[in-house]
Amino acid sequence: MALSTSVHETERTSPFPYPFTPHIPWFDTPQGCLLRSAPTSAYRRQNRAPMNIKDYLEQKRVDVDRFLDSVMPNAVTPPTTLHESMRYSLMAGGKRVRPILAIAAAEAVGPSAPGLMPIACSLELIHTYSLIHDDLPAMDNDDFRRGKPTNHKVYGDAMAILAGDALLTMAFDLCSHPDLMKGCDPTRQVRLIQELAYGSGNMGMVGGQVFDIQAENKDINLPTLQNIHKHKTGMLIRAAVRMGALASGAGDRQLDDLTSYAEDVGLAFQIADDVLNVTGTREELGKNPNTDAERGKKTYPTFYGADGARKLADDCVARAIARLSSFGPAADPLREIARYITSRKN
Ligand code: IPE
Ligand code: IPE
Ligand code: MG
Ligand code: MG
Repeated sequence: MALSTSVHETERTSPFPYPFTPHIPWFDTPQGCLLRSAPTSAYRRQNRAPMNIKDYLEQKRVDVDRFLDSVMPNAVTPPTTLHESMRYSLMAGGKRVRPILAIAAAEAVGPSAPGLMPIACSLELIHTYSLIHDDLPAMDNDDFRRGKPTNHKVYGDAMAILAGDALLTMAFDLCSHPDLMKGCDPTRQVRLIQELAYGSGNMGMVGGQVFDIQAENKDINLPTLQNIHKHKTGMLIRAAVRMGALASGAGDRQLDDLTSYAEDVGLAFQIADDVLNVTGTREELGKNPNTDAERGKKTYPTFYGADGARKLADDCVARAIARLSSFGPAADPLREIARYITSRKN
């Protein structure tokens, strides 16, 4: 079969599962070094100027995009349609909140986190897979995502399912890859992989998606809705912050505080998504608005109205920031990201 011959061909010519090279040129650039040695001195200074979160998010987004681009096979690598479809959704312009949270959590804890970029990007691979599957006709049946027609609208349901499967699998390839993870203590590495699996799987994001689907067109109460949000969105965000913290060698107390921060940020993030679903436009959101009501989903605005839901999200953000009281200026990006979560327009 032509397909399997060419895949085996790649295996014979390269010892790596994907066409990475063991030397990652990007990682040796000043930006790559910066990520390993963050936080920057500006954040360490006591009398610092308020950080510019817009610039921070933009710089990290560019770093993440560049790394993802470097590890994702190009669209002429067989199976070509699969790689095209994976790239179509992955490189479509997501905000990269989860990898940026992992990086910011690592910076809050300490200066050196070997393997931080593959770990951070593994979260984005899982997130993108979850969006592709979330949009399928069997789930939310959405037509637009990240400003473009959804993956299945372009490549068909079967290829969209497989692109999601492959992104999920590739996430674990990245954070178990010996060259990419060079310098990471093996025990710590296994712990990181377990965090990723737990946050994404049946007890985490996938479990939340099940609760979400089962709640459609039902008269659910508020604790049920909160449980959906905590799992479908909260658990991957929790994993992101914990993974960044663990990669930097966080102690138990630091990890507890950061976990509490992440749980509040995760809930705020999904409440904000619910609000944007009723207040945003397709142009702003890059996806269709009002889909929750059309699909019979109860959300925070259903219970509290958009303003009430916004206020609750703000309360979550205030709690999240209070959890960081034992951290110094190195945690400023985490504080600002929490504020950004509820002020964002998409
Ligand atoms: C959308 O996530 C789906 C949710 C879990 C709320 P994002 O708002 O992070 O979407 P992208 O990655 O920027 O497209
Ligand atoms: C998405 O939740 C959660 C996951 C993909 C895990 P939603 O279905 O509420 O998010 P959008 O509005 O489609 O982005
Ligand atoms: Mg959904
Ligand atoms: Mg959806």
